[in-house]
Amino acid sequence: MAAKVIDGKEFAASVRAQVAEQVSKLKDEHNIIPGLAVVLVGEDAASQVYVRNKHASTIEVGMNSYEHRLSADTTESDLLKLINDLNNDPKVNGILCQLPLPKHLDEELVINSIIPEKDVDGFHISNVGMLSTGQKSMVPCTPLGCLMMLRDHHGSLSGLNAVVVGRSNIVGKPMANLLLRDSCTVTIAHSRTKNIEAVCRTADIVIAAVGRPEMITGDWIADGATVIDVGINRIPHPDKEGKFKLVGDVDFASASAKAGAITPVPGGVGPMTIACLLANTLTACCRSNNLAEPEGLTA
Ligand code: GUN
Repeated sequence: MAAKVIDGKEFAASVRAQVAEQVSKLKDEHNIIPGLAVVLVGEDAASQVYVRNKHASTIEVGMNSYEHRLSADTTESDLLKLINDLNNDPKVNGILCQLPLPKHLDEELVINSIIPEKDVDGFHISNVGMLSTGQKSMVPCTPLGCLMMLRDHHGSLSGLNAVVVGRSNIVGKPMANLLLRDSCTVTIAHSRTKNIEAVCRTADIVIAAVGRPEMITGDWIADGATVIDVGINRIPHPDKEGKFKLVGDVDFASASAKAGAITPVPGGVGPMTIACLLANTLTACCRSNNLAEPEGLTA
């Protein structure tokens, strides 16, 4: 039977609508408007697009957006000074420093200079530690989006076998921690994993986050498994010379013939990342004002 295609665009729109509703309530009942500050250093083309989209989405849900565009030769001390100001600004509930940073800036140092309460990326070492010890933290946006889609599809994830392919700090490791917290049996597979196809075939849930176009094919997937494809890879278009197309880490055609449910690329996990950034900003705002957290929008 053909797999159910999980529509990330529709799901993300519903998350944004829930955020917008909560933002409107915060305004009406408490006169609070959540604020997200995005810092972009340099001219990286992809980062400019991301930042523009984040700004537009932030405004759309009724939050305040503060954009800080700094030149590529900004010194580390100037950047740290700006982050310190944002840490101390009560109008700012979330701070995101767009990565990658120019080479002369120390990414770890910069990320860890954001106070954990405002770290809406969930990259600060304290948030990483709290997530891995099961404490309340800010959770990285892409894995949070994957978790929301999995909970929506399965209800409870308890006891399911999950294989996360990829061990990055941004997706693979936090994803594994979130699945463990929802009582999955979790395996992290990577480029050195022996017989990785057979490992994936044991999974009720496969999360593909390796950054290798169409690596995971249908013969890696157990009948009826749920496949979440985090990859976004630009490859030469097979039919149109000089053109490109986006594909995931999963070969959609063969995997969707085996899976029970699968996310497409584009239109799967991608749109969830910004929706979860907005959800995290709302959560940070509620926590800092000692208000109840928005239901269904946290891990
Ligand atoms: N660059 C690409 N994706 C991201 C992200 O999710 N957060 C930040 N801070 N930078 C990025």
